[in-house]
Amino acid sequence: MQFIDLKKQYHLIETDILKSIQAVLEHGQYIMGPEITKLEQQLAEFLGVRHVIANSSGTDALLMALLALDIQPGDEVITSPFSFFATAEVIALCQAKPVFVDIEPHTYNIDVTKIETAITAKTKAIMPISLYGQCADMQRINQIAKQYGLPVIEDAAQSFGATYHGVYSGALSTIGCTSFFPSKPLGGYGDSGACFTDDDLLAQKLIEIRLHGQNARYCHNRIGINGRMDTIQAAILLEKMKLFPDEIIMRQRVARQYDDLLFGFVKTPTILPGNTSIYAQYTIEVPHRNEFQKQMQALGIPTAVHYPVAMHQQQALQYLGYQLGDFPNAEKASKQVVSLPMHPYMSLSEQQRVANAVKACLLNETVEV
Ligand SMILES: Cc1ncc(COP(=O)(O)O)c(C=O)c1O
Repeated sequence: MQFIDLKKQYHLIETDILKSIQAVLEHGQYIMGPEITKLEQQLAEFLGVRHVIANSSGTDALLMALLALDIQPGDEVITSPFSFFATAEVIALCQAKPVFVDIEPHTYNIDVTKIETAITAKTKAIMPISLYGQCADMQRINQIAKQYGLPVIEDAAQSFGATYHGVYSGALSTIGCTSFFPSKPLGGYGDSGACFTDDDLLAQKLIEIRLHGQNARYCHNRIGINGRMDTIQAAILLEKMKLFPDEIIMRQRVARQYDDLLFGFVKTPTILPGNTSIYAQYTIEVPHRNEFQKQMQALGIPTAVHYPVAMHQQQALQYLGYQLGDFPNAEKASKQVVSLPMHPYMSLSEQQRVANAVKACLLNETVEV
């Protein structure tokens, strides 16, 4: 069994994918070809946003958002200590300071009741993460941000396709950022990502930042990056977009089946009212995780940990001066969370195998699955 079986989907659309790649090879506009604009238009329509800036990765999308918002050295950006490293890394890359606020233990998203106490005169943005596929409490975050005059960047790398009170993740903040890394809910066959915004001025800045800050050929009016998406990735994503609405439903069905199979045995994902999750991960909590993962592996079931070390405990961020115990919910989650195989094409029998293995490992029983 695979943790994420990407080949099942590929084999469904192999002919169309090969045709779309072939088309790029024929027209030869490998950089910023027509597929980029087409993808941006389709993503804008899907999300209901005015502007989409397709780019090179989720990490670059976040970095571009910070650059567009003019985050300066010494500025503070509030975020969660429980995410993939990129979220805090891009803040540090701008020489700004990641200011962590602990997570809420059931959703693993930033605890909105603790944000205000972290705001100082140096705070320049709030960057919530919509982890595992469920949006953070964006309404409350936007309220706080408005009160303090701060922009919000939603890290929607794991939540593209999720909704919050009927609005798609990515369309809920000043700038939404996502990743099309292959294993993401909508993934390409390489690195790419996108920024989303309704703000015309920020969109123009993002377009320039994507191209080394150029506003005209070889005229650089700001510092940017090489943040372009390859045309081939756009061509692939356009094909995958056709499957995506059905895959959202399929992912949610797979998650519901896991919920039913595991009910009463283990802490399964909590999805809050008003949210739909895209289940980038189906993550449970177990007490003795190393042992659990070893036993699962022995039963032929791969598992993964997102993420084993909270951000404030990472070596690279020790200079921030945080201590063990500063964010107890993030620290506890980092020791106990474990994600199960999850993709839209999982069969019920595969899921039953996983669930039987989970139960056997938790009960310390020897069973064949
Ligand atoms: C929450 C989060 N933020 C940012 C990223 C970075 O995205 P990418 O790998 O496309 O740069 C990821 C990818 O794993 C992620 O999960």
